[in-house]
Parts: sequence; structure tokens; C-alpha cells
Amino acid sequence: MNKAVAVLVLAACAALAACGGGGSESGAAQPAAAATFDPSSLPKGAQGELIAYGHELIVNTRAHLKPYVTANMDCSACHVNGGTKARGGSFAGIAAQFPQWNKRAKRFIALQDRLAECFLYSMNGHPPAYNSREMLAMVAYITYLSRGTQIGATPDPQTRLAKFDPPQKPDPHRGQQIYTQKCSSCHAANGAGSGPAFPPLWGSTSFNGGAGMHRLYTMAGFVRYNMPQNAPGTLSDQEAYDVSVYVLSHSRPKFDKNAVIAFPAERASYF
Ligand code: HEC
Ligand code: HEC
Repeated sequence: MNKAVAVLVLAACAALAACGGGGSESGAAQPAAAATFDPSSLPKGAQGELIAYGHELIVNTRAHLKPYVTANMDCSACHVNGGTKARGGSFAGIAAQFPQWNKRAKRFIALQDRLAECFLYSMNGHPPAYNSREMLAMVAYITYLSRGTQIGATPDPQTRLAKFDPPQKPDPHRGQQIYTQKCSSCHAANGAGSGPAFPPLWGSTSFNGGAGMHRLYTMAGFVRYNMPQNAPGTLSDQEAYDVSVYVLSHSRPKFDKNAVIAFPAERASYF
């Protein structure tokens, strides 16, 4: 019997952690390239299969990883087109940034830890074991999207979520009008989304209060260049903030900072 249960106590990164990363401090000048994914040009054999499975898990998370997620969305709800869209939660060059010092956690984190954050907060769930085929497949996929990137290179700012200040104070009343006109057709008047394709923006099935998307400037940056999905880029900076402050004025799941994260025991088959 060699069943070890790995337990990760969250205390270290508890302080209102966000699925937004502690920010990178790497100074390399070379920007990372854009991420591209073409199934027909994957490496042949088992390595290519692992990468393709990782892509499948990111775009159809709920179908494959049901026990690990409670939010009614897939990773690609925020990492648009499987994390290949510039300014849409792109994974371009991300793998070259890890292991990474995390200020909040006060320790170095692995790429798996970064995925785990999004499982905990954005997906309001918990991560698969770090050595599971699922976790390794997602890491392989994100690493594949980072191919050609110099290790330690800073991702090209053009691929990152946009960051800008609101021209005026964000106003939820104006935001409500924008929401009714330009968002509710897909995300529903009550913010719960509709069908499997249109993810919830608030309520019990949305991301929790620790998520990166729960920060006003992050949501405004995402919405500005990705929403409304049928006419992205048509909102002004001010409208993106107004509608985001309205969305974030509603209730959503809370994250239990004292929760202990226990990974399921895995059969020992080490090498
Ligand atoms: C509700 C939105 C949302 C969902 C769903 C989500 N994420 Fe994220 N994720 C974010 C945001 C926001 C960031 C921070 C991006 C930034 O700082 O530019 C992020 C960052 C990341 C990063 C680090 C990349 C970077 O830009 O530094 C990884 C890796 C990641 N997410 C993986 C996942 C995985 C895997 C899933 C599904 C299990 C997932 N995310 C689901 C919102 C989300
Ligand atoms: C035509 C349908 C459609 C419209 C209209 C639309 N969205 Fe979305 N929204 C989507 C889809 C689909 C996604 C998943 C990402 C993707 O595939 O682009 C998404 C994802 C999101 C997300 C990230 C995931 C989540 O659930 O938190 C936010 C935030 C968001 N939309 C906000 C808005 C806002 C604000 C508006 C109005 C300005 C809007 N959307 C209008 C379809 C739509």
C-alpha cells in the first residue's frame, strides 16, 4: 500500500487570492509570440495525443472534469478559443514564466498551481491531482502554445488582457441599460447564462469572489475586447467599466479561505 494523499493547505495564498496571478517579474526583453493551435500540426504519437486531450479539457471542461468544477462554464469561457485569442485570456508564452515567484503565496508556484487557482476560484471547484493525466494534459497543451517562446520572456502585452482606467467613475445604472441592450440576450436577464454555450455572469453557478474576473479592471479589460461576443470591440472604455460594475454588483459564490484542498489518492506507479 502506497497511497499518499497530497494535501495542500491554502492558508498561504488565502488573502483574497485571484485567478489573476501574482504578476510576473521576469525581465527578459524578448516578447512571447502569439499562441496558435492547429490539431493537424501536432507532434505525432502519444505526445500529440496528450496535447490534443489538454485542448479538449480546456474547451469542454465540464464534459470531462465534472467532479472538479461547480461553475457552469468551461475554461474557454474566459480563455477564449482555448486560450489562443489575443486579449481574450491568451495562454501565449505562459509556460515560459514558470516556476514563478508568487507574492501572495510567498513561495514559488508551478504551472500546475496556476491552473489550480483557476479551478478553485474561476471554476469554483478544486484541481485534479498534479500528476493526473488530466492535469498533465492541460500543462502539455499550455506548454505547446508557448512553443518558440524564450524561457523567462515576458509575454507580449498585446496578447494579455487589456488594462486601462475608466474615463469617469463606473456607473452601475448606465451599466444596467447596456446589460439589457447588449448582454442579456445571451447571458440572460438574471445573469445565469443560457444553455451550455452562454456562461453565467453572476449567481450560484458563476465564478466565486476570489476569481480574477471578479476584479473590476480585469472584467472591464476582458469585456472591452471580447464582448458582446457577436460584436467584440464595439463598447467604449467607459461602457466596458459601467457594464462590468453592474455585473459585479450581484451576488456570487464565496470562496472558503480556510478550506483544505485534498487531492484524490492515486495508485502508486512511479516509473
Ligand atoms: C471566469 C473566468 C475564468 C475561467 C472560467 C478560467 N480562468 Fe484562468 N484566468 C482568468 C483570468 C482573469 C486570468 C488572469 C489573466 C491575466 O492576468 O491576464 C487567468 C489566468 C490563468 C492562467 C495563467 C495565465 C496568465 O495569463 O498568467 C492559467 C494557466 C489559467 N488561467 C488556466 C485556467 C484553466 C486551466 C481554467 C479551467 C480549469 C481556467 N483558467 C478557467 C479567468 C478565468
Ligand atoms: C452573442 C452572445 C453574447 C453576448 C451578446 C454577450 N456575451 Fe459574454 N459571453 C458569450 C460567450 C459565448 C462567452 C464565452 C467566451 C467566448 O466563447 O467568447 C462569453 C463570456 C463572457 C464573460 C466571461 C465568462 C463569464 O461567464 O464570466 C464575461 C464576463 C462576459 N461574457 C460578459 C459579457 C457582457 C458584459 C456582455 C454585454 C456587453 C456580453 N458578455 C455579451 C456570449 C455573449
